[in-house]
Amino acid sequence: MLRPVRALLLAALLTPSTLLAQTVAATPPMGWNSWNLFAGRVTDKDVRAAADAMVTSGMKDAGYIYVNIDDTWQGQRDAQGILQPNSKFPDMKGLADYVHSKGLKIGIYSSPGPTTCAKYEGSYQHEEQDAKTYAAWGIDYLKYDLCGFRKIMTQEAPNDPAKQTQMMKDAYEKMNKALKATGRPIVYSFCQYGWDAVWEWGPGLGANLWRTTGDINPTWDRMTLIGFSQAGLAKYAGPGHWNDPDMLEVGNGKLTHDENLTHMSLWAILAAPLLAGNDLSQMPAETSAILTNKEVIAIDQDPLGKQGDRVSAVGPVEIWAKPLKDGQKAVGLFNRDDTSLPVTLKFSEVGFSGGAKVRDVWGAKDLGKLKDSYTVSVPRHGVVLLVLSK
Ligand code: GAL
Repeated sequence: MLRPVRALLLAALLTPSTLLAQTVAATPPMGWNSWNLFAGRVTDKDVRAAADAMVTSGMKDAGYIYVNIDDTWQGQRDAQGILQPNSKFPDMKGLADYVHSKGLKIGIYSSPGPTTCAKYEGSYQHEEQDAKTYAAWGIDYLKYDLCGFRKIMTQEAPNDPAKQTQMMKDAYEKMNKALKATGRPIVYSFCQYGWDAVWEWGPGLGANLWRTTGDINPTWDRMTLIGFSQAGLAKYAGPGHWNDPDMLEVGNGKLTHDENLTHMSLWAILAAPLLAGNDLSQMPAETSAILTNKEVIAIDQDPLGKQGDRVSAVGPVEIWAKPLKDGQKAVGLFNRDDTSLPVTLKFSEVGFSGGAKVRDVWGAKDLGKLKDSYTVSVPRHGVVLLVLSK
């Protein structure tokens, strides 16, 4: 326990902004987002059902907290310029209260442009007003999607890419200031598809996460193209600021069991935000077991906040590793081939020259203390996820 005088001193040192930085997205945000399942069809009822299911399915207990409404909730501005939701969302404050009553948090979506990607009203020239509206509703998370602002950039700075980049940065900064001015801790998520090395400047403009790529979809090719292209970005991530290789497609499309395991394992090693995008109200046990696996989530949410990176890629076999607390390391042995393959991990490759105690995470099995290496058959499109300790 801190003595009263020291506690007072400490409180004086922690200004409101450092407190905000410490509490918002200390680990990669976890939750659910409406886009991958509903796209433009999402309604108030769907979001309430997702919040209900988040609790009853065990997702909340596993750490999934944010229920995020993506594009297509916006209506018109009133005479004062205050943005109203459209008829699919009759009572935003009521919806936010409902989500909060479940012990969850709620997210929303906008664009720095006059319109969003789905051509709904954006925040252009209404940034402060919109930030205040979100705060008044009780919003906890904003995804800010470049989309309609691109038109403004090309109109105002034709053939001047440097000026366009600066305009984009200014637009993100503007909303950052507007959000901070509300005094409400709101996770700020940049969505501009990884352009202009956003990982270098995003955190300085208040990004708690930033998309590193274009949109994911529920196919093996797209998911792996995105996931395995994240090599080299680890150094930009840390508590409060995360690379975002886009939302999860676990349980969507025709991804096989092994493909879903690859997706979840790779995102955990990447310390990626874990935003499920499947139908939580009708989740098969198999999908739920993948999304709520406590050991995998612990890898993603490890308090060190270090993103993992590629260790080797030999043909279709990739080995990726992520440092964890207490000197442990998560190691993924991935097989991108169409047939199963034997994969050998030499412990010296991942900093365990003296041998390692090995845990097979998806197998939920301790493999004991092993000396130099471990060889295992990895199924097609599959993964063996290990945690090594001394
Ligand atoms: C895209 C974005 C998607 C989704 C969509 C909504 O630009 O990358 O994640 O938000 O807009 O229109």
